Amino acid sequence: MSKRIVGGAIVVALAAVAAGVGISWGAEAGRTVWDGIYTEAQAARGQAVLTEQCVLCHGETMRGGGGVPSAVGPEFMFNWKDKSVAELFAYLKMMMPPTAPGSLSDQKYADVMALLFKMNGFPASEGNDIPANPEALPDVRITPDKP
Ligand code: HEC
Repeated sequence: MSKRIVGGAIVVALAAVAAGVGISWGAEAGRTVWDGIYTEAQAARGQAVLTEQCVLCHGETMRGGGGVPSAVGPEFMFNWKDKSVAELFAYLKMMMPPTAPGSLSDQKYADVMALLFKMNGFPASEGNDIPANPEALPDVRITPDKP
């Protein structure tokens, strides 16, 4: 329980930092995860990251269990609704895997995040990948509300 609160505090702190540098990189206002923000190819690369780095705790389906929260479905949405993709990226980099936070390349964090979006049912597009540079992440909102 206290662990969860600490995680949340870090996310809030990072969000404040992110707001300070102004995450707005060419993003049109009001974009969400329903706008096709990753490609199928990126999600496929994310699968390799997941298998190597995440399944141990979260399982193949990323639904967690035994004290590990689900990164898919209602539990994920409860925790991440109305937060930005940049915040999720920062969280993953700061916290995951808990045994070695920040140990993956930015590219791998971006790729595995694309897979999480796919698993949560958000559409891919033919367009751009989620960028590997966290500062270039557009301010895109996570929401269950399909436009
Ligand atoms: C050693 C076990 C372990 C590994 C490996 C691990 N996680 Fe986690 N993960 C956790 C725990 C525990 C939490 C909850 C942390 C907290 O709330 O403080 C968590 C939380 C999360 C969350 C937030 C879920 C939610 O509902 O809010 C996401 C997303 C996530 N992990 C993704 C990943 C990804 C992606 C990887 C691989 C790069 C990964 N994790 C590797 C244990 C792990």
